Amino acid sequence: MSGFAKKTVRDIDVRGKRVFVRVDFNVPLTDTGSVADDTRIRESLPTIRYLQEQGARVILGSHLGRPKGPDPKLSLRPVARRLEELLNAPVAFAEDCIGAPAFAVVEALEPGAVALLENLRFHPGEEANDPEFAKALAALCDVYVNDAFGTAHRAHASTEGIARLRPAVAGLLMEKELRYLGELVESPPRPFAAVVGGAKVSTKLGAVRRLLEKVDRLVIGGGMANTFLAAQGISVGRSLIETDLLPAAREILADAERRGVLVALPVDVVAAPSLEAEGEARVVPAQSIPDDLMALDIGPGSVEAFRRALEGCKAVVWNGPMGVFERPAFAKGSLAMANVIAGLEAVTVVGGGETVALVSQAGLQGRFTHVSTGGGASLEMLEGKVLPGVAALLDKDS
Ligand code: 3PG
Repeated sequence: MSGFAKKTVRDIDVRGKRVFVRVDFNVPLTDTGSVADDTRIRESLPTIRYLQEQGARVILGSHLGRPKGPDPKLSLRPVARRLEELLNAPVAFAEDCIGAPAFAVVEALEPGAVALLENLRFHPGEEANDPEFAKALAALCDVYVNDAFGTAHRAHASTEGIARLRPAVAGLLMEKELRYLGELVESPPRPFAAVVGGAKVSTKLGAVRRLLEKVDRLVIGGGMANTFLAAQGISVGRSLIETDLLPAAREILADAERRGVLVALPVDVVAAPSLEAEGEARVVPAQSIPDDLMALDIGPGSVEAFRRALEGCKAVVWNGPMGVFERPAFAKGSLAMANVIAGLEAVTVVGGGETVALVSQAGLQGRFTHVSTGGGASLEMLEGKVLPGVAALLDKDS
């Protein structure tokens, strides 16, 4: 049995029960305080609708941002409004996530009705995983459901503490995330490739090391590729590199060779004198980046080399853009790779906030097997770490 097989809302009787669902509604807001991207809210709808159909009283709890105490700018009220539109049903809002305001809202819930509690992180007890705060949350409910995969790497009161106090099962989004990412971690179809990018090696070091034990091919792009190029003695001009990680990059390349893992690094890059000098961007060979230029995207030759490296793969996990995709002059490599990966006849899983934003910018979400709602959580899972919010849930066979 997979370590990621957990009991879900389908395995437990919820009829008429008060069900606390930890969701990850940590969504970006606009300057005027409305929801800028509702992907995470939409992804939680199957669980909410299932519970409504079962006649449960649905109590949703989430954090938003990283407040230090109550902060009106980080209120979940706009999220409640967006959820009402998506559910086409009223969503009661509790001004506080515990105590009298929360109780009043929960008491008034009819079977099938939904309430959202105010930001859990307005109370320091949430992040401290304070047992008293967990008890105050548990007092609101009979059953606990965790559907917040994006926050499962945090051992907080609403993700870990509360799960000790009530029967604790996974929501349908959590189940889906664990199924796809769990399969890649435990028994990926082969050949299995990882495509990693993003600005820094440091944020992905653990994941890359661990992935090397699992993958047949490793494609490295984005800013972090510069450190790997430099580790091979290649001069990378003004490109940003993490000098302290050159030995780690060398070790990774040596380990890949020992294991027979094919590593693909950029063969050409789009370079410019600076991030702002978009007009002066040009393609140069990765082996000889001029001293006055910095690599800001992969070039067309790299896209082709990466395409070949991924040919025939049966599973691909992708985390991290290939360049500074927020700027049009440096977005082509990432967009081209999104198309390459989306076009493979393989299980394709995308994780990481930036990569997911890139995929939705390109309108390609529907062409991947799974687009994870987790940034840090998906990375930690690929690192082989135990996610506290997952470990706390009942095992499928328990
Ligand atoms: C995320 O967006 O990665 C999750 O919601 C977790 O948020 P956090 O990093 O503030 O804990």
